[in-house]
Amino acid sequence: MSDVNGVGIGLRMEMAKELLEKKPAEVKWLEIHPENYMNRGGRFPTALKQAMEKWPIATHGLTMCYGRAEPFAEEYTTQLKQLLSDVQSPWHSDHLCFSDVDGVFAHDLLPLPFTEEAAKLYTRRIIEARDATGCENLAFENVSYYAESPDSESDEVTFCLEVLEAADCKMLLDVNNVYVNAKNLGFDPRKWIDQIPAERVVQIHVAGHLVRHDGFRIDTHGEDICDDVYDLLDYTLRRIGPKPVLLERDGNFIPVDELLEQVRRLSEIYDRATEGAR
Ligand SMILES: [Fe+2]
Repeated sequence: MSDVNGVGIGLRMEMAKELLEKKPAEVKWLEIHPENYMNRGGRFPTALKQAMEKWPIATHGLTMCYGRAEPFAEEYTTQLKQLLSDVQSPWHSDHLCFSDVDGVFAHDLLPLPFTEEAAKLYTRRIIEARDATGCENLAFENVSYYAESPDSESDEVTFCLEVLEAADCKMLLDVNNVYVNAKNLGFDPRKWIDQIPAERVVQIHVAGHLVRHDGFRIDTHGEDICDDVYDLLDYTLRRIGPKPVLLERDGNFIPVDELLEQVRRLSEIYDRATEGAR
C-alpha cells in the first residue's frame, strides 16, 4: 500500500506558507501540480522540499490532457518523469479532455465528444504518456462538462469504462465533477459511480462548486463542499473502499484553519465509511 492514504489537500502557493508553518496533523498527504515545479526556482522548490519532509506527495498534472491532437512534447515528459521520481509519487493523473490546440492554451478543460475516435485518441495518448514517463499507475480524471455533444455515441461513464479497458490505466474519480454533471445534465450520480470498477481507482477528488442563480452548477474549486457531495463521497468510499481523498481548493482562498474544518469532516466520513476495509 502506498503512503498516500486518508485525506489530503492540494499544495497551492496561496496557502503554502501558512500550511508549511502549521504542518497540521489532520492533513495526511499533499497533491501537487508538477507544472508549478518543473523548470522553476525560488520559493517553489523550497516549498516542495519542506512539504516532502512532512508529507507523502501525489502528482496531478494540468497540461498533459490526454485528448490533445499532437503527441506530448518530449521536453515536458522528460521533466515530468524526473519530478515523479524525485517526489516518489505512487501514481500520476491528468484529465480526460483537451486544453490546447496548435500551441494555444485554452486554460480550460475541454471534453471531446464520447465517440470511438475520441476513445482511441485518449488511449493512444495515455499509453504514450505511460511509455514516456515510465509511470505504471497513470490515471485519468473525469472532468466537469456543461453540455452534451450531439456527436457523442455513448454516455460519459460508458466512455470512461472503454478508455480504462483499452488503455489498461487507472482513474482519479472526481466525485464533485460527477455530482456537478449529474445535476446539470440530469442523471443519477450514484448509478454513475456504481459502474466504476473499484480496482481501477487510485484517488478521489472532492471540491466546492458554484450554484448560479438559475441553479446551474459551475465547477470552481472556490467554494466550500456542499452536503450532497459529502454524502456522495460517503457512498463512493463505501462502494470502492479506502481510496485517498483530496480536497481541491484553487480559488477564493480561505485561512488554513477554515480549510482544516473541511478536512476534519472529510476524515470523519473516510474513517466511518472505510472502517473494517482498511
Ligand atoms: Fe478534480
